[in-house]
Amino acid sequence: MKTKTVKGNWSFRTNKLTFPYVFLICIFFFLAGFFGSTLFSHSQDGDGYGLRPRPRSRLLESRKEGKYNLMTAGEFGDDSITSIPFQVLSWKPRALYFPNFATAEQCESIVSVAKAGLKPSSLALRKGETAENTKGIRTSSGVFISASEDNTGTLDVIEEKIARATMIPRSHGEAFNILRYDIGQRYNSHYDAFNPAEYGPQKSQRMASFLLYLTDVQEGGETMFPFENGLNMDGSYGYEDCIGLRVKPRQGDGLLFYSLLPNGTIDPTSLHGSCPVIKGQKWVATKWIRNEEQDD
Ligand SMILES: *[C@@H]1O[C@H](CO)[C@@H](O)[C@H](O)[C@H]1NC(C)=O
Repeated sequence: MKTKTVKGNWSFRTNKLTFPYVFLICIFFFLAGFFGSTLFSHSQDGDGYGLRPRPRSRLLESRKEGKYNLMTAGEFGDDSITSIPFQVLSWKPRALYFPNFATAEQCESIVSVAKAGLKPSSLALRKGETAENTKGIRTSSGVFISASEDNTGTLDVIEEKIARATMIPRSHGEAFNILRYDIGQRYNSHYDAFNPAEYGPQKSQRMASFLLYLTDVQEGGETMFPFENGLNMDGSYGYEDCIGLRVKPRQGDGLLFYSLLPNGTIDPTSLHGSCPVIKGQKWVATKWIRNEEQDD
């Protein structure tokens, strides 16, 4: 009776294994219930359900209130946490995007201060270049204003925030260059860093640029990085085409990118430009940051 033996063996095995299985299942449901209810009561805390928080969830609450254990700061450090959200847009070039870096009021204040002194933007010229033969490369109007020249104090606040976001001291920044682009106005792709082979020896170098968009632009006016991630670098690029990584201006948002690589050489992918404005008007405040302190 083969089948009977098998059957008997089977029922014998199940009988023997039933107890541990049931025991484990009990423990599982007990633990699931225990942790489940803790989570549940925690998620209901302060929701007006009248559930008293358990001691355990109160512990979680107090940890949430003091989320970070602060260190004792050095002489010029902070005794609080600063939160400046950013999005990494690219590693080639190293570009960071800061949503809501400034408020709408701050942006409007900067625009009204800049309006007074606006002039057509100029270019740093290479050998053989003149104002006449470079006409059309940069068609915006702009003005340089240092933080101390802005009596409203807005540029001071923004400059301080840029220094904190980059950890490059304010003394390394040039004055703000505040630019206005009307419909059709543009800035062909270029480098902010000055290649000594083209511009001659440099006392210091622009290592990073921070752009604060002061207005929304209905259409066009993007900041473009045509060589982003090494694209379009086969020599065919004509410096006018609006291609590659494009950042749409939005009032109050900031864009930081580095023109120098960590080893100090110019990052070839940091080439960038301003696409022509198609609809609306673009205002932007640029802060060029140098690798040496600025004299002024
Ligand atoms: C600097 O770094 C880049 C990228 O890693 C590299 O291609 C280049 O050769 C380096 N230049 C020098 C002078 O070290």
